[in-house]
Amino acid sequence: MATQAAEKPTTWRTEPRAVDALDAALKANPQAMPVHPEKWDVSRSDIYVEDRWQPIFAEMRAAGDLHKIENSPYGPHWNVVSHKAIQHIEALPELYSSSWEYGGITILDRMDDAQLEELGRERFELPMFIAMDRPKHTGQRRTVAPKFTPSAMAGMDDEIRQRTGELLDSLPRGEVFDWVDKVSIELTTGMLAILFDFPWKDRRLLTFWSDWAGDTEIALVRELDDQRMDILREMAAYFQQLWIERANKEPGPDLISMMIHSPAMNQMDPQEFMGNLVLLIVGGNDTTRNTMSGIIHAFDKFPDQRKLFEEDPSLIPNAVQECIRYQTPLAHMRRTATEDSELFGQTVKAGEKLILWYLSANRDETVFENADKLDITRENARRHLAFGYGIHRCVGARLAEMQLRILLEEMHKRRMRVHVAGDVERVRANFVHGFRKLEVEITEF
Ligand code: HEM
Repeated sequence: MATQAAEKPTTWRTEPRAVDALDAALKANPQAMPVHPEKWDVSRSDIYVEDRWQPIFAEMRAAGDLHKIENSPYGPHWNVVSHKAIQHIEALPELYSSSWEYGGITILDRMDDAQLEELGRERFELPMFIAMDRPKHTGQRRTVAPKFTPSAMAGMDDEIRQRTGELLDSLPRGEVFDWVDKVSIELTTGMLAILFDFPWKDRRLLTFWSDWAGDTEIALVRELDDQRMDILREMAAYFQQLWIERANKEPGPDLISMMIHSPAMNQMDPQEFMGNLVLLIVGGNDTTRNTMSGIIHAFDKFPDQRKLFEEDPSLIPNAVQECIRYQTPLAHMRRTATEDSELFGQTVKAGEKLILWYLSANRDETVFENADKLDITRENARRHLAFGYGIHRCVGARLAEMQLRILLEEMHKRRMRVHVAGDVERVRANFVHGFRKLEVEITEF
């Protein structure tokens, strides 16, 4: 298990944070961001940083299930905005592909060779099973899935609970502090370090890399994208080193060791192995982190719901589902049509990309009554699509739910009430939906 005693800081670079680099670039040159001329082009990040995306998606949902955007910095694409259309598309993975060969799972397209040559860049891609179709996807997912079953995770419950409790006990009282930095980042990186036996002193690198990897806006600003590629190469080098060290050791209970020593993984080439490692570590990072911040922000916005939680801890499991629905920490995934098809009255051509806006599906009034309100007693909160749907549904969902449940249980045990008491800053991105800063103060209930 991760050696928590070694608190020496990492010797790898952890600066600048992706959000700060983007801010600085935009301050130096406000024209650096390409414009989004169409009113329903929700790939623009200002609507998320200013938290005003809700009425735009509501307007789109009222007008139909999907809408074509012709002119966007990310190229033409379909915005899929209703709950039923997203479920329908994800249930047809052959027709609507996740494969990196078609463009993968984010709104950003793959560069072709001519574009790479023009930029003077070498191709750098890490294949991951989230961006693969069947049958390859099935085999690779099966190698890691056993680590995430309820019985496999039961062994982690105690360690996560103990760490969560210690962290909550160490928080300042009577003073304003940043929940994102002190709690959300600490708990998620700590959990991942335990799961992968990742070097404890380096755990903040996981946040640094995950932020650079998940930021599609950065890729639109040329100099920043060069920097992003350099940072992702450093990440790959780090994991390669870790992999070599682990391969030469006795098999252990951690996920890296489990992957190295599983027979199915022997068939993977080193790039694929690395890609899947990065997927697990990055995939589990900003998602859980932003939900931990989202819970606190939502409870503060809906104090009646916080009161219900305080009065009745048996509501915690449902509260976790509802908070994940309400936050939806990954705003979208992408699919690409492999053939022409009719979709809810629209003709989608082969090769066109479809952006599945989970953020919108989770506010779809035809499924969730009063969808813009947090309601921890909501009977169908579990129907949210924040983890996706179908064969690619999040493999780490149970682990994320467990961590969030433990956080709420341990807060409840300590009668801890957390108020927003200062700055609230959101991430400038269209993929990761979350908070960069959330200043709070703790009292008791
Ligand atoms: C896939 C969300 C936590 C690992 C996904 C997908 C989403 C998602 C939307 C894609 C689903 C699709 O394409 O249909 C979330 C959210 C989380 C979370 C909202 C937390 C609240 C985690 C954790 C891990 C993880 C903790 C692992 C440590 C993965 C992996 C995949 C995935 C490996 C790929 C699954 C596949 O393609 O078969 N997640 N995730 N996620 N997630 Fe998560």
